[in-house]
Amino acid sequence: MERTFIKDLKSKTGSEASISGWVDVRRDQGKMVFFDFRDGFGKVQCVVLPNSPAIALAKEIRPEWVLKIEGKVNARPEKNINAGILNGDIELEVLNIEVLNKSETPPFEINIDTMPVGEEARMKYRYLDLRTERMQKNIRMRDKVITFFREYMHKNDFVEIETPMLMKGTPEGSREYIVPARLFPGHFYALPQSPQQFKQLSMVAGFERYFQIARCMRDEDTRGDRQPEFTQLDFEMSFVKQENVLAYTEKMFIELVGTLYPEKKISETPFPRLTYKEAMEKYGTDKPDLREDKNNPNELAFAWILDFPMFEKNDEGEIQAAHHPFCSIKPEDKEKFMKGEDLFNIRANSYDLVLNGYELSSGSIRIHERTEQKQVFDLLGISEEEQQRKFGHMLEAFTYGAPPHGGFAPGIDRIVMILQNEPNIREVIAFPKTGEGRDLMMNAPSEVSEKQLKELGIKIDRK
Ligand code: AMO
Repeated sequence: MERTFIKDLKSKTGSEASISGWVDVRRDQGKMVFFDFRDGFGKVQCVVLPNSPAIALAKEIRPEWVLKIEGKVNARPEKNINAGILNGDIELEVLNIEVLNKSETPPFEINIDTMPVGEEARMKYRYLDLRTERMQKNIRMRDKVITFFREYMHKNDFVEIETPMLMKGTPEGSREYIVPARLFPGHFYALPQSPQQFKQLSMVAGFERYFQIARCMRDEDTRGDRQPEFTQLDFEMSFVKQENVLAYTEKMFIELVGTLYPEKKISETPFPRLTYKEAMEKYGTDKPDLREDKNNPNELAFAWILDFPMFEKNDEGEIQAAHHPFCSIKPEDKEKFMKGEDLFNIRANSYDLVLNGYELSSGSIRIHERTEQKQVFDLLGISEEEQQRKFGHMLEAFTYGAPPHGGFAPGIDRIVMILQNEPNIREVIAFPKTGEGRDLMMNAPSEVSEKQLKELGIKIDRK
C-alpha cells in the first residue's frame, strides 16, 4: 500500500491506509493500546484493539520508535471528537505494525515544549529538539518567510546572485573569521560579514537589482538576537533615492505580515519615521519599542530611523564609520565632509528599520564616486597604502561608470524570531551555536590534525 501523509489521512476515512513516522505518546488502556503517531506533516491517534494482529507488538513500542503502520481510518464517535485539531475527528485502527527502527529513550521529552530544557541538552541533541512541535513550526515558517521574500524580489525584477564565502573581508564593525589558504602560506581568506562590497559591485556590473538570501559570519559575542552566523535578505538597487528603498521595503513587510501572519496587526502605516537624533532625544535609543501593549504578541510596531551619523568614536576613542564606510553623506553636510570639519555631526544617507525594539535592518544610499569614497577613508585615518590594499578594487570600480545605488539588509533570523513570538534567534535557526559560539552536536570548533596544520604552514602557540 502506498504511504499516505498523516495530514491527508482524513480523505481516506472508511478505507485502509499506510502511514510512516514516529511514536509520540503511548497510553495502554487495559487490553487496548492507544498511541499518538506523527510524521513530518501531522499527528493522528492510533488504536490497537485486543483482537488486532498487531496487539503484541503494540505493547512493546516506545516513544520515538520509527514505524510503518497499516490500518483502517475510522471516523471517531461524536463524543470523542476533538474539534479544532488536525485529525481530531478520525483515528487509525491499527492492523499491522512494521518496526523500521527502534529508539533509545530520548534525553528529554519530545512531545512537550522543550523551552525549559537546558541549552546543553537541546544543542547536543538538536535533531531531537527539532522534532518538537514548536521547533518544527518555527523552521517551517522560516522557510515560508524566505520563500515569500524570494518570490517578492523576483516579482520586482531582482536577480539572486551568489557572492563568495571566501573573500577578502568587508568592514561591518566586527572581527572577521579567517580561513588559511593552503596554496599561499601565510595568506588568509576572510568570511563575509555581509556581501556589502559584492552587492555594490553588482550594481557597477549593471544588474540594477540584486538580492541574496545571504549567510553572514561575524566573530562577535553571541546574544539573544546575535549569532556568529546569520542570514540576511540582502538587496541593492541602482538609480534610487532613499525614499525608493524605504517605500519598497515598507510595502514588502506589510505584504509579508498580511500574507503569512494575518493575525498580527501593524500598529501604524505608513511606518513612523524618526531621525536618529529625535530617537535618541525622545527614547534614549536608536531602536525604540513603540508598541502600545508590550505583552500583546500580535502587535507589530515598525519604525524608520533616519540620518544616522556617518562617524562615531569606538571604545578606544578612535574614529570609525558608524555603519560602514560606503554610506553617502547628506547633501546638507557635504561641505563639512569635504572640508573634514565637525566630523561627528556629519550625517549619512543611512536608515534602519526597527520592530518592537529590535534593529531589523540597516541600509544606506551609497557613495558611487571615487573622490567621495576616498575622502571617507582619509577621514577615517586609513593610509594611502592601506586604502589601496584593502579597498583599491572599490575605488577603481567607481571610476568605470558606477551608477548611483543604495540598498538594505533585513536580518531574517530576527524577523522570524519576532513573528514567531520567540525570545531568542536560536529558536528559529535549525542548527545554531550556543551562547559561547559552540556547536555542541558536532563539537565545533575543534582541533585539527598536525598534518593539516603542517600543510597550511600553521604553528599553534598553546600558551
Ligand atoms: P548590519 O550590520 O546592520 O548591516 O546588518 C543588517 C541586519 O542583519 C542582522 N544582523 C544579525 N542578525 C543576527 N546575528 C548577528 N550577529 C547579526 N548582525 C546583524 C540585523 C541587522 O539589522 N551590509 C549592511 C547592510 C547594508 O548597508 O545594506 C549590514 O550588514 O537584523
